[in-house]
Amino acid sequence: MKNTIGIFIAISFATALVAGCGEPQSPEEKETVVATNTKASITSQDWGMVDSQSVKLFTLTNTNGTEVKITNYGGIITSWKTKDKAGNISNVVMGFDSLAPYLQAPPYFGAIIGRYGNRIANGTFSLEGKTYKLATNNGKNHLHGGKKGYDKVVWTAEPATDGKISLVLTYTSKDGEEGYPGNLKIKVVYTLTDADEIAMDYSSETDKTTVVNLTNHSYFNLTGDVSNTILHHELQIDADKYTPVDATLIPTGDIIDVTGTPFDFRKPTKIGDRIADVDGGYDHNLVLSKTSEGMELVATLYDSISGRQLEVITDEPGLQFYSGNFLDGKLTTPDGKPIIKHGALCLETQHFPDSPNKPQFPSTVLKPGEKYATQTIYKITVRK
Ligand code: GLA
Repeated sequence: MKNTIGIFIAISFATALVAGCGEPQSPEEKETVVATNTKASITSQDWGMVDSQSVKLFTLTNTNGTEVKITNYGGIITSWKTKDKAGNISNVVMGFDSLAPYLQAPPYFGAIIGRYGNRIANGTFSLEGKTYKLATNNGKNHLHGGKKGYDKVVWTAEPATDGKISLVLTYTSKDGEEGYPGNLKIKVVYTLTDADEIAMDYSSETDKTTVVNLTNHSYFNLTGDVSNTILHHELQIDADKYTPVDATLIPTGDIIDVTGTPFDFRKPTKIGDRIADVDGGYDHNLVLSKTSEGMELVATLYDSISGRQLEVITDEPGLQFYSGNFLDGKLTTPDGKPIIKHGALCLETQHFPDSPNKPQFPSTVLKPGEKYATQTIYKITVRK
C-alpha cells in the first residue's frame, strides 16, 4: 500500500512539475493533485513568483477532512481548518489567502524561523574565538534570523514519497547569510497525520561551526474567529522556571522559579487572568520541565467556546509564549476581520533566546559532522 502511494506521489508530482512548465495560469485555475491515498491528499497550486522562483500553495488533507495549507514561501502554514465541538469547520491560525500580503512582512505568521529563533543581543556573538556581526532588525538586536530570515525565502518543496501526507521543504542558507558562519543545509518536513497533528521535523548540517535554533511561528486562535481575543483561552505549560528579560526582550541570563509569578502555568490558567501583571504582555521563554531529551507533551491550550484543544509535544528545552502583544488590528484575515492585540498567540518550541551569549543556557552550537535534529507536534482535538 505504502509503495503504491509513493509511486502515485512520484508520478503525480512529476506531472505537476511538467504542467508547471506550460503557459502561465492563474493561481485559482491550476490545482494539481500531487499525492493521494483515497481520502487523504496533497494538492498544489501556483501562487506567484518571488526572487525569480516559483511559489506554490500546497493543501494537505487527512482522512478526517482536516485541511492544512502550506506555502514554500517561508515554509508558512497559511491555514489549518479543523472542526469545533459542534462540527463546524474553521481556520485556527493567522494567515492570508494570497501571496501578496506575505510580501509585506507580516509578523512571521505561520513561518519557519531561522537561522536563530528569537533574539540575539546586539546582533553579535563569538564562537571559537571569532566574533560574528549579524544583521540587526529589532532595535539594536537580531530577531528571527535577521532582515531576510527563513520566513522570507523560497524553499524547495516536494511531497514525501513514503506514503505519508508530508511536505518536505529544503533550503541552503549560505555562509555569511545575515552574518552567520557556515553553509547550512536545512530540511523541514511537515506531516499531517490522521490524529489531526502537524508534525514538524527539522534537521540541518553545516560546513563551519555555527548556531542554529529553528522553530515555527504559527499564531493560534482556537475559536477560529479573531474577533475573540485569546485572553479567555486556558493555557497549561509544564515549566517550573522561566527566563526573565530586559526592556529589549533579551534574557537577563537568570533562570527563575515560576512559583508565585504570572508565569506559573503548571495548572491550566486563563491567559487574561494575570496578563496585566506582565509588562507588555507575555513574550517569554519558559524553561520546560522535561524529564528526558525526547518528545514530551509540554503545553495544552484550551478554548471553551469551540471546545478545541491544542497540545504541544516537543523535544526542545524551551517554549516562547507570545500573547500577540504587537498585533494592532492593521492586518486583516481573508474574511476582513482585523487581527487585534491578543487576537492570537504563539507557542514557539525552541532553545532559549540569546543562548549564543549565555553559556549557562543549553547550547545552540552546531559543528561540521554533527546533525541538528528536532521535532515538534501541534495536535488539535475537541473536548465535547
Ligand atoms: C516573537 C518575539 C516577539 C515578537 C514576535 C513577532 O514571538 O518574541 O517579541 O517579535 O515574535 O512579532
